[in-house]
Amino acid sequence: MTITIKSADDIAAMRIAGRLTSEVLDMLAQHVKPGITTEQLDKIAHDHIVHVQKAIPAPLNYQPAGYTPYPKSICTSINHQVCHGIPNDRPLKNGDIVNIDVTVIKDGWHGDSSRMFVVGEGSIAAKRLCSFTYEAMWKGIQKVKPGARLGDIGHAIQTFAENAGFSVVREFCGHGIGQVFHEEPQVLHYGRPGTLDELVPGMVFTIEPMINAGRREIKEMGDGWTIVTKDRSLSAQWEHTIVVTDTGYEVLTVSDGSPPPPAFITG
Ligand code: MF3
Ligand code: CO
Ligand code: CO
Repeated sequence: MTITIKSADDIAAMRIAGRLTSEVLDMLAQHVKPGITTEQLDKIAHDHIVHVQKAIPAPLNYQPAGYTPYPKSICTSINHQVCHGIPNDRPLKNGDIVNIDVTVIKDGWHGDSSRMFVVGEGSIAAKRLCSFTYEAMWKGIQKVKPGARLGDIGHAIQTFAENAGFSVVREFCGHGIGQVFHEEPQVLHYGRPGTLDELVPGMVFTIEPMINAGRREIKEMGDGWTIVTKDRSLSAQWEHTIVVTDTGYEVLTVSDGSPPPPAFITG
């Protein structure tokens, strides 16, 4: 098995899929308020992707080996839910934190991105976890350039998260992406510098750290999808789709409403 290298034309197509993905998150942002259910958010996202974008929500009926088909178009993971939360009829409440993860297929190409949202007024601790996790993702993105290695990305994320007193989930990772939703390589969010695959221009993968306020251990719920922290501590995640360029990286999942990169990126 090998890592696919995308051509300039492939990357142009993925830029479109990535922008559409990010625009779904822009559109959902205005709806994330106390009282809305995650099922309502799912319907808004589904209808926008299918009818406005003329695209496909990749999660719907997605079935990796050993899983039941995923029943919704987005993932919504609240508070101690780590990832793959299934939208349902429970209303969001003031102080919740929710990760919304969107994957759009346009013209056969995938874009995959997620953001954290604080519902109403969040606690200091919840907001700190969300913003540190955002910075942790960018600490990983910052390492992306030809000649660097996947272990450099994982190490940067792990060091930053653990120095802040948080833990990194080990069981789920970023992934290569293109015409296939999840392909090689695996992008671990922990590790040692100078290890694992060398980055080459045209590689496209996600960086999507899951960071827990408490211990790193997780468990799967009875629905076969939702992952939660074992100690029920809060968990946060952000995700971008990244291409390795000749000189560094380009984030593909960007749009007018994308949160700005942290100061350590923009100078
Ligand atoms: N979007 C998730 C990721 O970042 C995968 C979700 S799979 C689903 O890789 F079936 F749960 F949607
Ligand atoms: Co992903
Ligand atoms: Co995702």
